[in-house]
Amino acid sequence: MNSLANKRILLGVTGGIAAYKSAELTRLLRRAGAEVRVVMTAAAADFITPLTLQALSGQPVYSRWDEAGAAMGHIELARWADRVLVAPATADTLARLAQGRADDLLSALCLATTAPLYLAPAMNQAMWRHAATRDNVETLRSRGVRLLGPAEGEQACGDTGPGRMLEPEALLAALSASFESGALAGLKVLVTAGPTREAIDPVRFMGNRSSGKMGYAVAAAAAEAGARVQLVSGPVALPCPPRVERVMVESAAEMLDAVLERVADTDIFVAAAAVADYRPQAAAADKIKKTVQPLTLRLEPAPDILATVSRLPQRPFCVGFAAETADLERHARKKRLAKSLDLVAANRVGRGLGFEADDNELHLFWEGGDARLARAPKPRLARLLIEHIAARYRAGLAHPPQGDDHADHTA
Ligand code: CTP
Repeated sequence: MNSLANKRILLGVTGGIAAYKSAELTRLLRRAGAEVRVVMTAAAADFITPLTLQALSGQPVYSRWDEAGAAMGHIELARWADRVLVAPATADTLARLAQGRADDLLSALCLATTAPLYLAPAMNQAMWRHAATRDNVETLRSRGVRLLGPAEGEQACGDTGPGRMLEPEALLAALSASFESGALAGLKVLVTAGPTREAIDPVRFMGNRSSGKMGYAVAAAAAEAGARVQLVSGPVALPCPPRVERVMVESAAEMLDAVLERVADTDIFVAAAAVADYRPQAAAADKIKKTVQPLTLRLEPAPDILATVSRLPQRPFCVGFAAETADLERHARKKRLAKSLDLVAANRVGRGLGFEADDNELHLFWEGGDARLARAPKPRLARLLIEHIAARYRAGLAHPPQGDDHADHTA
């Protein structure tokens, strides 16, 4: 099946002479089965009419806030997209995006979307080579924005050099490849996410504040990177990410069962769930009645799902999270060894990060290396994490350190 079939492409068109090629690009995308929504800047309309792009995309073209509001809110449009491609992206557009501006619809969409952003620069060769543009490109790249082109050659202004927009066929091929040759293409990934609930009696449970957002973002990013993804989720109010197979569970015991049922057919296991460390020794059969006496609950350790999986003789590549309030690096390294993990993603909790927050930052540790992923929205961070996981997995580091610190870790 065509990798662009049913994919949602938000095409941004900005004011450059290459804007006429956006018409052909829209046609090619539609022919490949993609849904296309076009957003134009005011300057783009000087080069190509909205009517042309509307006819070719079969959808209304957005250029002003009120239009986006009428058909689909701008945040909704930003969420709708699987990929955002700005073609052509002028020097001014690169500058605006590097600055994170949001004073026109297209810039705001680029800021609001969590979908991968692709830019096809098109400008005069001197503008492309200018230090300001070089800086903007560098900034954008460091944030994970992908640049397609520019090509070298003769330019509309008579100059020759780098700055021509890539041809529509090349842009189509790049977008198509972004769906099929993901870093995890052909691999099977199993993810746990969300909290668990441990029953106290038929109406009460012990739980925690995990929102499940990070785990869901990891599952979505893994699917986006081409993996077949199964998600074992505790109770959360999040929709299942596209192309992810989800099973909902409640308790740590149910989560363990669901994971063990699936793990034999798994290449990479990512434990992002906030599994209860302790659970009531026995849930009361009937609702516990209130008395004036203090109530003592006896707790026992809940099964450690990640440690159980990492001890399996035929284990997948194991990734764990470590939520720490202090001494992050020491605890994270210790946790990696204690649970024999291939990679641990440590994050600080509290101070607006971690549980319930939309942003997070991670410090990754593996045998012989580490990497910091700066504070970012969880979907973006999840994509970077998946890239690291893929790189470690491919590097053949699927084998745990066989040190003396192989202790069972249940704390
Ligand atoms: N984990 C698990 N099963 C448990 C507990 C944890 O699979 N019963 C996984 C989590 O999904 C996470 C990692 O193990 O990937 C976290 O390890 P844990 O030892 O629980 O660390 P913290 O949650 O950070 O708590 P603590 O520091 O108290 O050990």
